[in-house]
Amino acid sequence: TPLTQDELKTLVGQAALQYVVPGEIVGVGTGSTVNKFIDALASIKDQIRGAVSSSVASTERLQALGITVFDSNEVERLSVYIDGADEIDAHGNMVKGGGAALTREKIVAAQSDRFVCIADESKLVQTLGQFPLPVEVIPMATRRVIQQFAAKGGVGTIRLKNGQPLVTDNGQYIIDVTGLQIADPLAFEAEVSQWPGVVTVGVFAFQRAQVCLLGTASGVKTLN
Ligand code: A5P
Repeated sequence: TPLTQDELKTLVGQAALQYVVPGEIVGVGTGSTVNKFIDALASIKDQIRGAVSSSVASTERLQALGITVFDSNEVERLSVYIDGADEIDAHGNMVKGGGAALTREKIVAAQSDRFVCIADESKLVQTLGQFPLPVEVIPMATRRVIQQFAAKGGVGTIRLKNGQPLVTDNGQYIIDVTGLQIADPLAFEAEVSQWPGVVTVGVFAFQRAQVCLLGTASGVKTLN
């Protein structure tokens, strides 16, 4: 029987262990795939100093398994950051933020020498933009940012939770934008990042993945 998506996530979560540098602090992302990695990391926790985490959710999971979590500011550089993605292309450009953790994810990715993306093969795309693009914004700017996306053919809506705007770990809102074709991820990220009130756009091109461990029916494929 073919592997389920959950089993593929477990496979790539375990495969990511080979990128963890013994004696060091590892950067840890957010999401259901990363949760598999965190569980695998617990089995070698005595070999690492700890982790820098990209969300409250991952911090709680790491600590529950006995892994020390450092503040981002306590650490100068990380050798490796391991995280999932909502979409990834053949060059390692990604769309992230489906779990609303994109801002901290980009911060930890930026302080890391190498981004290792772990994903099941459903995340691999030709062109970014099929998955609704998450953008973290200052609540005051939501209307204007939605207008700016409309000028690009995108339809933005405020992400809700229990009927109310979802509030991120950073106290801001998320806009999800459909209808975009992100042909030039670097230029797109550069442009949208400059719009007033945008905290973080979910395109990761400046912080693209150097390695992608893709879970496929025939096992883990390494793209780099
Ligand atoms: C979190 O904000 C996202 O960037 C995640 O990396 C993304 O949603 C992947 O999550 P899954 O591993 O659950 O698909």
